[in-house]
Amino acid sequence: MGRVTGQQGYDAIADIYASTFPTAYQFPIERHAVAAFAEVVGDREGVVVDVGCGVGHVTADLVDRGLAALGCDPSAAMLDHARRQYPELTFIESDAGAALSALGPIAAIIARFSLVHLEPASVAHVLGLWSARLTAGTPVLIAFQASDERGAPILFDHAVAPAWRWHPDEFAALLGLNGFHEDWRIVHRDNSYRFPMAHLLVHRALGTALVTG
Ligand SMILES: C[S@@+](CC[C@H](N)C(=O)[O-])C[C@H]1O[C@@H](n2cnc3c(N)ncnc32)[C@H](O)[C@@H]1O
Repeated sequence: MGRVTGQQGYDAIADIYASTFPTAYQFPIERHAVAAFAEVVGDREGVVVDVGCGVGHVTADLVDRGLAALGCDPSAAMLDHARRQYPELTFIESDAGAALSALGPIAAIIARFSLVHLEPASVAHVLGLWSARLTAGTPVLIAFQASDERGAPILFDHAVAPAWRWHPDEFAALLGLNGFHEDWRIVHRDNSYRFPMAHLLVHRALGTALVTG
């Protein structure tokens, strides 16, 4: 953890991914969630870090919304697509644990459908690192495939790489242990997708986190 590890699964399918998902959002509610996040970030000082940015569509949307966003991803092949499509933007090869280490002030973090690929114990560790790095009030938006079952995250048969679904309450509780305070959440369901999907907006709270990683 805390280092770039590559992402063999996404490296292998980056071309297919880019043609399958030519736009940022599959469902309108996702766009609204990101728009609400962008509004909360406003003119906070620093960069908005898109962790697990993939082919960069959401990073680009945030820049279009006036934010100083950059993307990080461990998959070199996904970043190749991002850099080709958005040559004016900044993309860094880095995983969730290392993403913040070389950066200056952080205005906010967004991590959509990327932390699901971390083993649950690693998620706790990463949230602890983020919490230690962020100033009070910093917004963090996390999106993930969700579960309706309380308890441990569920390993599921993601098409590309190992992935875990979380009950939103469990993810929110882990964020709370690591010094984040929940602002809102959206859980949406669509007949075209087999799982609920969650967007969870939190901010770094005042005070010291109980680091769980
Ligand atoms: C489903 S894509 C989501 C891309 C983008 N966030 C979006 O919303 O369109 C998941 C991305 O997470 C990245 N990822 C996998 N493991 C990661 C890790 N340990 N840290 C950060 N990103 C990771 C993958 O390389 C992939 O680009």
